[in-house]
Amino acid sequence: MINNNFEDVVMNRKSVKVFDETVKIPQAEMDEIIQKATKAPSSVNMQPWRFLVVESDEGKDKLRPLIRFNTRQNDTSAEMVVIFGDMQNYEHGEEIYNSAVEHGMMPEDVKDEMLAKVLPYYKSLSKAEMNDIIKIDSSLAAMQFMLVARAYGYDTNPIGGFERDQIAEAFDLDPERYEPVMIVAIGKEKNPGHDSYRLPVDTVTRHV
Ligand SMILES: Cc1cc2nc3c(=O)[nH]c(=O)nc-3n(C[C@H](O)[C@H](O)[C@H](O)COP(=O)(O)O)c2cc1C
Repeated sequence: MINNNFEDVVMNRKSVKVFDETVKIPQAEMDEIIQKATKAPSSVNMQPWRFLVVESDEGKDKLRPLIRFNTRQNDTSAEMVVIFGDMQNYEHGEEIYNSAVEHGMMPEDVKDEMLAKVLPYYKSLSKAEMNDIIKIDSSLAAMQFMLVARAYGYDTNPIGGFERDQIAEAFDLDPERYEPVMIVAIGKEKNPGHDSYRLPVDTVTRHV
């Protein structure tokens, strides 16, 4: 069941902290949600986001000591989705641009020109510069993931409070390569999320 009411999806999204423990999201449905989340834009379309779907009891046991005050979400959510940014995302550059040509999305000469520019540029970036890029791109995917999840009838909580320096290794990922961005708890709400105040538009906006 897809909720196509965009107003409802956006305006009624709230961080949910306590989920219905009996609800799990089937892998095929989770893959669909992730596939739609990855329609998010990214710098030079390099798509540096990587999703680690923690669904098993063993996986959640590994997460529990690493997520500080967020254990309720870990214990009750259907899944905890750890979103990483791949510092070596350019390794997929050829695949992305060649596939665009194969699918008729880009002419061959544009692909050649783009790859000749983008790959050396990305490889030349400092760690700090690449870190900024993957965090911006992956955050867009995380937001889109949360909205798509709502369209599928699920609720989420973005989580930034966790041990960033330990999470990749805990799941046998290279910590130099995979930079944790955010964890998104997902499931069906048990306790509704609270309303939260937003600053007025004129406080956060300047027209020039
Ligand atoms: C990057 C980020 C990190 C967050 N970290 C946590 C967290 O560690 N624990 C938590 O309960 N909520 C966390 N939140 C949720 C915020 O508290 C929540 O989004 C905010 O209060 C607005 O409420 P709403 O999501 O219901 O609109 C985080 C949100 C973001 C965007």
